[in-house]
Amino acid sequence: MNDVNEPVRYQLLDDVALLIVDNPPVNALSHGVRRGLKENLARALADPEVAAVVLYCEGRTFIAGADISEFGHPVVEPDLRQLLDALDMADKPIVAAIHGTALGGGLETALCCHYRVALDIAKFGLPEVQLGLLPGAGGTQRLPRIIGPEKALVMMTTGVPISAGEAHKLGLVDQLVNDDLLSNTLIFIREKVARGQHHSRVRDKQEKLLDVAPEIFQQARHSTTHKMRGFLAPEYNIRCVEAAVTQSFDQGCQTEAELFAELMAGPQSEAQRYFFFAERQAAKVPNIDVNRSKRPIAKVGVIGGGLMGGGIAMNMANAGIPVTIVETSSEALQRGLNTIRKNYESTVRKGRISDSVMQQRYALITGAIDLNALADCDLIIEAVFENMAVKKELFARLDGLAKAGAILASNTSALNLNDIAAVTQRPESVIGLHFFSPAHIMKLLEIVRCEKTADDVIATCMAFSKRIAKVPVLVGVCPGFVGNRILAVRQQQAARLALEGASIEAIDRVLYDFGFPMGAFQMADLAGLDIGWDSDNCDPSDIRDRLCELGRLGQKTQAGFYDYDDRRRPTPATLVSEVIADCAVLKGVHRRDASDSDILDRCLLPMINEGAKILDEGIAGRASDIDVVYVYGYGWPRYRGGPMHYANSVGLSKVVEKLRKLQSTTGDIFWEPSPFLVNLAERGQRF
Ligand code: 3HC
Repeated sequence: MNDVNEPVRYQLLDDVALLIVDNPPVNALSHGVRRGLKENLARALADPEVAAVVLYCEGRTFIAGADISEFGHPVVEPDLRQLLDALDMADKPIVAAIHGTALGGGLETALCCHYRVALDIAKFGLPEVQLGLLPGAGGTQRLPRIIGPEKALVMMTTGVPISAGEAHKLGLVDQLVNDDLLSNTLIFIREKVARGQHHSRVRDKQEKLLDVAPEIFQQARHSTTHKMRGFLAPEYNIRCVEAAVTQSFDQGCQTEAELFAELMAGPQSEAQRYFFFAERQAAKVPNIDVNRSKRPIAKVGVIGGGLMGGGIAMNMANAGIPVTIVETSSEALQRGLNTIRKNYESTVRKGRISDSVMQQRYALITGAIDLNALADCDLIIEAVFENMAVKKELFARLDGLAKAGAILASNTSALNLNDIAAVTQRPESVIGLHFFSPAHIMKLLEIVRCEKTADDVIATCMAFSKRIAKVPVLVGVCPGFVGNRILAVRQQQAARLALEGASIEAIDRVLYDFGFPMGAFQMADLAGLDIGWDSDNCDPSDIRDRLCELGRLGQKTQAGFYDYDDRRRPTPATLVSEVIADCAVLKGVHRRDASDSDILDRCLLPMINEGAKILDEGIAGRASDIDVVYVYGYGWPRYRGGPMHYANSVGLSKVVEKLRKLQSTTGDIFWEPSPFLVNLAERGQRF
């Protein structure tokens, strides 16, 4: 008897047994699914009436992988390999009917079937590398046997799925269909049975493994070293494909199992798996159903056509949403539109989009020099320069002209949004949408909830961010919100370390080696040293003020903390060392050397401490939200999970101990651990 609540159901359709996986939301291979598939497969194989088996999934997708939430816990049998061995050894033909996404263990399961029939909109991938893993159920050995090692290396080291069309061309899919997947799969398998032909198994295919050029492994290493610096998993995936070429199938599976176990037990995969759920958690807001009571957003307005406004407008156009940019003059507007056009042209040149896609997107962007052009917009995003008086005046005007129900958003990265909302008659419709530069590329969107922002406005913006391919994190109002507030304390310490005698190259190297894409001073040079610089009030003992006075504004002037050549490569500047030494004298700072571990502690501990204060104040709802901000907005290495996960892995007591030591040696209140952090540490808890 079939129980409708069982994650796998059995159905006999004449001579074909149907194994139906029904484990929402993504049919992951949880224990119940593995057990159900194994038992029902045995039933089908034992039934003399059954000539063939179809593996089919209910819901939105084929099996999207192993159940990641089971990782890190003892495995309950049957494990995935036991299930797949049973499929592989079956003496009746088995076909996987695939829709949605066949990912990871899902694709590995399909690879153990004799045939694969797929809807033409399905996708196929081995994304384990993104979880710090490798396909651990034979996928590393079977996939190269079908599509060849070179293509398998790309799929496994990037984790990016391929389309059903490509999978069909590569031989991964035997038949593509455009509708009625189940009926077409039944026709397919009955034909195969009727022909009485031999049903070959993937493990026995060898052809694609012959005469493999050794350079493909070198190329794969070269490409991943560059793109995934610091990540262990890409190299392990490559080793498995090498094993597929140089070892027997069984030995290769053994190699795969050993390397998989090593990655699974290591800190990188633990951090990446944590981050997988952190990202999904961030999209949820306690007490607000983000899927309900949303305001429709059909047209967007952006005020300001500079770097930020232009990037935001591109973001909208890329998602197919019409957008109007408003500038103060036709010259400024034209400049902004030209920059957008150039950005699109460069994307076309790089082969990322076609010319016609570019034309479609560009056509969605219109320009105006009159704010009234935004009267019919559902969402208006202000991206003008950071000046409270200007923003207040703008919001008061917007309030008067925007249609009823329109959401008024500011892209401010630091100003008090409650004060901005207060100048309008609709503070419930005012919110912060803090994009990160370049806005059409960076994934993070800090959604800033003001005191009076209505729940449906928050729900709308959370859902909207998914539409424009952003990762949203809801935060509260405070100077710098979550990301910039935490960054400020790190930058402050980096400058202090430099004053005390550590070289800026050493500080940047330590941060780069930790996994950041660049160090504190390279980052400052990239952003521009003159952000917030007041040329009328220069402090001669302040390094930044001094550099700005010298016209060293960062990369844009080819000189900042470093000198830059035409290709933006930095070299240390003696002049900067002299300025720093002079500032140290003026401030009376005693100069000494700092070890790499001192530098790291002094840069990272304040971030953790500030994160704790942010949690205590309720500015962020969850520690994992802070981690999502840091990984997506500031280049914190994903394999270290984010600052709060990192603190957990170091141990909160250790963090408190180090902060207290710094406080006593420096006598600086800056190092005082947050009471919230101390409390957690004393109770032996984690963030
Ligand atoms: N295990 C457990 N839960 C999973 C999961 C998985 N493999 N994949 C998705 N989920 C959960 C998510 O956590 C989320 O839960 P929530 O609603 O409670 O937050 C829910 O399913 C929906 O996921 P998304 O929000 O991501 O839904 P989308 O529709 O945007 O995307 C997807 C669907 C493309 C399937 C995406 O979820 C995805 O990429 N999942 C991960 C796929 C993956 O990495 N598979 C490999 C797993 S490792 C493996 O198979 C090892 C093997 O080789 C041994």
